[in-house]
Amino acid sequence: MIKTRKTDRGAISSWSRLVERAAPFALRTTLASAAFLLGSAASVAQTRPAGIMPQDIMPMMQEIVQALGVQCEYCHSAPRGSGQPEPKKDIARQMIAMTRDLNARVQTATGKSAAEAVQVKCVTCHRGVPIPRPLSEIVSQTLRERGVTAAAEQYRDLHQRFYGRAAYDFGEDTLVGVAQPLASGKPDDAIALLKLNLEFYPQSAKTYAAIGFAYTRKLDDPTAITYYEKAVALDSSNGVIRGQLEQLKMYQRKR
Ligand code: HEC
Ligand code: HEC
Repeated sequence: MIKTRKTDRGAISSWSRLVERAAPFALRTTLASAAFLLGSAASVAQTRPAGIMPQDIMPMMQEIVQALGVQCEYCHSAPRGSGQPEPKKDIARQMIAMTRDLNARVQTATGKSAAEAVQVKCVTCHRGVPIPRPLSEIVSQTLRERGVTAAAEQYRDLHQRFYGRAAYDFGEDTLVGVAQPLASGKPDDAIALLKLNLEFYPQSAKTYAAIGFAYTRKLDDPTAITYYEKAVALDSSNGVIRGQLEQLKMYQRKR
């Protein structure tokens, strides 16, 4: 789905190939504008645009590569001088301009200087992936288009590849947030996703409670009560979950 950078070594070797191919003049002008646009060497670029050293492009491009989790060829996709379109590079050029605009806005809005204000960078949004879509949206979309089994598989796959990095929020709440709105209409899908969450968070009271709720939608109160009781056992201080369990038991007794 998303093409990611495999090794640093691969990125660096393609990097030096590209740098070798770059004409010195093109390199210098691009460097000047790109460094200025990114804001990393703004004052230097503004006062001495032609004086940026060619080696400055390496850290900048390396920063972009890391921020998006891609290799050089993701953007520099056509042979140099071929005139073939490079659509991702065109987007990146726009993104560079956008990032420059954002930094100017941030500084105006906060009344801080460029040195004082937090600098918006590619990584601020991208966090290591080319299309920075929140995990909950990715899983919800797959669920809609390809069903719950595919969505669960995708979550596992992304967890394996990205856990511990900034790209996606694999916290306790993500799958609960995707599953809860499904509970009324598609309780089985909700239960499948919540049980997946228990694999990663076996002590998650709110996940047990959400499974309990989904079972009430399946009109299976005895199973619902089992899950609510487990939730209360894990988090006895949670008054909301305790209240739901009490209500459920009372409702059962009346019937
Ligand atoms: C996300 C897209 C993207 C990635 C990934 C990327 N670049 Fe660039 N690169 C650009 C853009 C945009 C420019 C500026 C083009 C312009 O404004 O003319 C540029 C400019 C350059 C230039 C100046 C000459 C030229 O082609 O304009 C070199 C050399 C370069 N990049 C090398 C690299 C290397 C090496 C890597 C991998 C480490 C890399 N780039 C990764 C988008 C990218
Ligand atoms: C304010 C947030 C934000 C910042 C900052 C930002 N981007 Fe993006 N970028 C996005 C979003 C959102 C998308 C996805 C748009 C879509 O396709 O839905 C995107 C998409 C892209 C893409 C296209 C990826 C693809 O596969 O289609 C490239 C390339 C890119 N950004 C490069 C950059 C670079 C380089 C920088 C830093 C100079 C940067 N972006 C900074 C938000 C940002």
